[in-house]
Amino acid sequence: MKITFLGHASLAIEVAGKNIIVDPFISGNELAKNIDLNLLKADYILITHAHQDHVLDVEIIAKRTRAKLVSNFEIVNHYGDLGIEGHPMNHGGSWQFDFGKLTYTNAIHTSSFADGTYGGQPGGFILETKEGNIYIAGDTALTMDMQLIPMQTNLDLAILPIGDNFTMGIDSAIIASDFVKCSRVLGYHYDTFGYIEIDHKKAMSSFKNKNKELILLDIGGECLV
Ligand code: NI
Ligand code: MN
Repeated sequence: MKITFLGHASLAIEVAGKNIIVDPFISGNELAKNIDLNLLKADYILITHAHQDHVLDVEIIAKRTRAKLVSNFEIVNHYGDLGIEGHPMNHGGSWQFDFGKLTYTNAIHTSSFADGTYGGQPGGFILETKEGNIYIAGDTALTMDMQLIPMQTNLDLAILPIGDNFTMGIDSAIIASDFVKCSRVLGYHYDTFGYIEIDHKKAMSSFKNKNKELILLDIGGECLV
């Protein structure tokens, strides 16, 4: 499995011969101007919640690629009204897709579209594949529910928000890493705006001091699972 960081909370995942885009927010991210939206391949688009910094480019990518959306019921309905096909899920549910199994997990956050309409309850995803298992936390606080994840899945990588203010910060992400029993963490949701700028050196050393690995990718950078 190859994961490419597209900036903010946007990811491109290649697994089992399929291309998956997560929470595309590229055209609105000045830091991601080296990413060409028109070149992104997508068989599926996963959406954790309806906030603008997670869905801005969903429509443009879905209409070009005919990718299938996977998200909560309300978000899939919203895009269904725009003629975009999707697979609705809700918390605690799993579905076997052709690339692997997805579970929609709890997240503590909010979820509304830019116009204020209801975007269902926010979530994250566990992705279990023959090439490895990952947790994409979405925007969330540290939550005790994370302790349920390793009871069901052995993770190879946890993708956690680390920017603080709107989500967990570094110290909470370290505890989250304990909760999900995965010491290899890819940080996301940081540096995009003033509220979530982080000190990279301090973040790296905080993880290292707990014998954990924090991966911070350049935009366009890749990591393998
Ligand atoms: Ni959000
Ligand atoms: Mn966000």
